[in-house]
Amino acid sequence: MFDVAKVREDFPILSREMGGKPLVYLDSAATSQKPNQVIDAEADFYRHHNANAHRGIYTLGEEATEAFEGARATIARFFGVEDAARLVFTRGTTEALNLVALGWARPRLHEGDQILLTEMEHHSNIVPWQMAAKATGATLVYLGLLDDGTLDLSDLSAKLTSRTKVLAITGMSNALGTIPPVRQLADAAHAVGAVVVVDGAQSAPHLPVDADALGADFFAFSGHKMLGPTASGGLLGTRERLEEMEPVFGGGDMIREVFPQDATWNDVPFRFEAGTMQVAQQIGLAAAVAYLSALGMDEVRAHEVELTRYALERLTEAGATVYGPTDMAIRGGAVSFWYRDVHPHDLAQILNEDGVCIRAGHHCAQLVMRRFGTPATSRASFSVYNTTDEVDILIEALAKAGDMFAF
Ligand SMILES: Cc1ncc(COP(=O)(O)O)c(C=O)c1O
Repeated sequence: MFDVAKVREDFPILSREMGGKPLVYLDSAATSQKPNQVIDAEADFYRHHNANAHRGIYTLGEEATEAFEGARATIARFFGVEDAARLVFTRGTTEALNLVALGWARPRLHEGDQILLTEMEHHSNIVPWQMAAKATGATLVYLGLLDDGTLDLSDLSAKLTSRTKVLAITGMSNALGTIPPVRQLADAAHAVGAVVVVDGAQSAPHLPVDADALGADFFAFSGHKMLGPTASGGLLGTRERLEEMEPVFGGGDMIREVFPQDATWNDVPFRFEAGTMQVAQQIGLAAAVAYLSALGMDEVRAHEVELTRYALERLTEAGATVYGPTDMAIRGGAVSFWYRDVHPHDLAQILNEDGVCIRAGHHCAQLVMRRFGTPATSRASFSVYNTTDEVDILIEALAKAGDMFAF
């Protein structure tokens, strides 16, 4: 049974006050808060086991390597992957997507090839593909959005063709909350021989994810959005695709042998992990996925569905325009809205006076903003520790801001 009061006890930051008001943190899509279990795992590593991984053959070095590789296995398993070598550690989603664009796509793309994206992608799943396209002569093609924030699939067969080499798609939109039909699109992409890259930055923290069942050749995720430390996360790939990928960074531990003019590469995944890695952070992320697994991802999802449904109802009643789908089966807990005629930046500032943290801006999704004809939105986003009482506080604070700013 999911007990939010008990969950909240694990997050020390939630007992903070902001200007005498309880902290109401509604910006988990930007980064989540961290439970004691994660903070303690990272601190314990530094206190008792700190050494560089894959280097020292003394006991402490072996402990560090064991903990780091143990973290790899735990995190891969969280995503349904038993072969830990299929997980390349990165600082997060952006680095993981750039790794695929540079190491896998760029050496393979040619003039006339196409990369299929959607208009709801985060800039991290657009710009690396633009760079790859410019370098190779490939072009970008976009699936558009319907008014309800879902994908317009009416022209899918014209856009997904034998020219498509990559389908890069989000598992959940950070700007609209939309959960696109990734498996259906992955099957269609595979049928034309394209490789499927899933941006899991928002789906990994909030949905049960099995990377293989999703049809992902590559699945990128950020630890800091799923209760883990900053600079943790990674790229899951199929063995075949990872073996094909070129290293992007050269340096320590990614080599097998180095000669004056050349070098040979270490095995997957180490050939993609040049230099000292985020050892403590990935160990912290393993504690985060253990925490999420103990809660149960189905329970996490059910909790967030309930909160989001309540937030959509209350925001709509309060006169806000809410973007994105209203069907909870295809939406997550990132709720973008426009409240009366108050600019999101003013709104975020006023809400801050009541201890309420929301995000205002384009959310690194300018194509979404352009599609809906707005320069910015206000966004409340939820995680395991949020409550319906906090939604009520948000709504009260909105009314106050409306009285101050709205015409
Ligand atoms: C959908 C999506 N993709 C990618 C990213 C980038 O994640 P990171 O900054 O952790 O690399 C974000 C972060 O907001 C996101 O929401």
